[in-house]
Amino acid sequence: MTAVGIDAIEIWTGKLRLDLPNTFAPEMGEDPEKYTKGLGLESSSFPDTYEDIVTMGANAAKRLMDRRGLTPDDIGRIDVATESAFDNSKPVSTYIAGCLEQVYDGDFHHANKGERKFACLAGTQSIDDAYNWIKAGRHRGRAALVIATDTALYERGDPGEATQGAGAVAMLITEDPSIVELSTEQGYGSADETDFLKPNQQFPSVDGKRSVQVYLARMREALEDYESVSGDTHPDDFEYIPFHTPFPGMVRKAAVLGYRHMTRDTEVEEELAEEIGMQPREEAYDSREDYEEAIRAYMDELKDTDRYREWYGRAIEPTLGISRSVGNWYTGSVHIARLAALRDALERGKDMTGKKLLVGSYGSGAQAEIHAETVVEGWEDHVDAIEVDDQLARRYDITYDEYELVHDVHNHDKETDVDRFSPPESEFVFTGWGRMNERRYDYVE
Ligand code: HMG
Repeated sequence: MTAVGIDAIEIWTGKLRLDLPNTFAPEMGEDPEKYTKGLGLESSSFPDTYEDIVTMGANAAKRLMDRRGLTPDDIGRIDVATESAFDNSKPVSTYIAGCLEQVYDGDFHHANKGERKFACLAGTQSIDDAYNWIKAGRHRGRAALVIATDTALYERGDPGEATQGAGAVAMLITEDPSIVELSTEQGYGSADETDFLKPNQQFPSVDGKRSVQVYLARMREALEDYESVSGDTHPDDFEYIPFHTPFPGMVRKAAVLGYRHMTRDTEVEEELAEEIGMQPREEAYDSREDYEEAIRAYMDELKDTDRYREWYGRAIEPTLGISRSVGNWYTGSVHIARLAALRDALERGKDMTGKKLLVGSYGSGAQAEIHAETVVEGWEDHVDAIEVDDQLARRYDITYDEYELVHDVHNHDKETDVDRFSPPESEFVFTGWGRMNERRYDYVE
C-alpha cells in the first residue's frame, strides 16, 4: 500500500508580537497569571499592515517550495484552509497561486485549487482531501500543497481577544512522505452547534465557556469513533498527542479527559487505583449528573498523580511550545502543535522513526477528527530545516496603543492609515485594491 503523508512543512508567523502578561493584561486590569498560568499564553502574533492571509500563506508556501526545489509543475493541487477569507466566490488559493507565479517560472494552470471551510478543522480536512486524491491515483505523480492561513481576531472587548493570533502553515502532501505517514483510520465527532460562528461577519460570535465544553464533547466522540476502527488506544501507544490548540489551557482540559478514557480498563487504571480509586462506572450512579460529577472528581485527582504528570510532560506539554507564543492560528493551530512535538523530539535526540502521534483536530460549529501518524525515517533533517525560532524572535513588539491600531488596520469595516512596523524583505506584500475590489500583491526583494 502506498504511504501518503506530510513531506514538508513551513510556517509564516504574523510579524508583530503582543506580550500578553506584560502589555495586554495590565491594560485589561487583569492578573498576568490569567494568561501565563490560566490560558497558558505568553504572547500572540499579529500581521503587520502589509500582511494578510494571502501574504502569510504565499510566504510560507514559497519558503517550502524553495527549500524543496519545487516548481509549479510539481504541484497538482493547492488547497487553502481558512476561516478569515474576504471573498465568498474567489478562493484564497487563486490569490496565493498568483503570488507564487510572480516568482517562479511556469504556472499552476493545471493544478486544482480550492478553499476549505470548517472553522479550525479545515486544515486537517484539506490534508484529508489531498490524501484521498493521491490514494485514488488522480495526482499524476504530483504533490498537493495545503496551506492553513488565518488572522484570528475577535471583537474588541470579547473574552476571546486574549487568544488571538495570526500565521500560516504550508504542508506538502505526497506519496512516500519524508516526515509522517497518515493513518487510513479516522474518527469523527460532529454535531450542529452554535458555540462559535461568523454569519457573514468578520469577527466571531462566541459563547466562550460553551465552546470549551463543545470541544471536549466532540473530541471525546471522535476518539470513540477512532477506536471503533483502530481498536482501543493506550497512552503508551503515542509518543506525542498534538491537539487543536486555541490556547494551551484548552489542551490541558482535553488531555486529562483523553488520558482517563484511554486508561479505562487498563493496567494503568489498576495501578492508579491505590492512590485515587478506580474510575467511576455509570451503572453505579442513579443519574447521569451524579456520574459526571464523580468523573470530574476522579479527573481532578488524576491530573495530580505522578503517573499522569509524567505522561503529560512527555506527550502533551511539548506540543504547546509554539502555540504559547503565537496564540490561536485557527486552521493552522493543530499543525503547529505537531511541529512543536517533532521539534521537541529533535532537541531531545529521540529516535522517532516508526513512532506514532495521535492528532486531535477540531473546528467549532462543531467537529473533531482524530487520526494517527507514523514518523518516517529521515524525518530529522526535514524538521531541522524548518525555521521557527528566528521567525518568532524577529517579530516586532507592539505597545498597547499600537495593538489598538493594528486591530483597526485589519478590521474590514475601518479605514485606518498606519505606517508599517517592520520593513518587508524577500516576501509577498499586500499593495491595495484593484478596480473590481480585488486585493493586489507584489513580491518585495
Ligand atoms: P475568560 O472568561 O476570559 O477567562 O474566558 P476565565 O476567567 O475562564 O479564565 C481562563 C482560565 O484562566 C481559567 O482556567 C481560570 O481559572 C484561569 P480554568 O479554570 O478554565 O482551567 N485564571 C487564572 N489562573 C491563574 N491565575 C489567575 C487566573 N485568572 C484566571 N490570576 C475563554 C476564557 C477561553 C472562554 C475566552 O478566552 C474565549 O472566549 N476564547 C475564545 C473561544 C475559545 O478559544 N474556545 C476554545 C474552544 S473552541 C475552539 O477551540 C475553536 C476555535 O479555535 C475556533 C474555530 O474552531 O474556528 C476557537
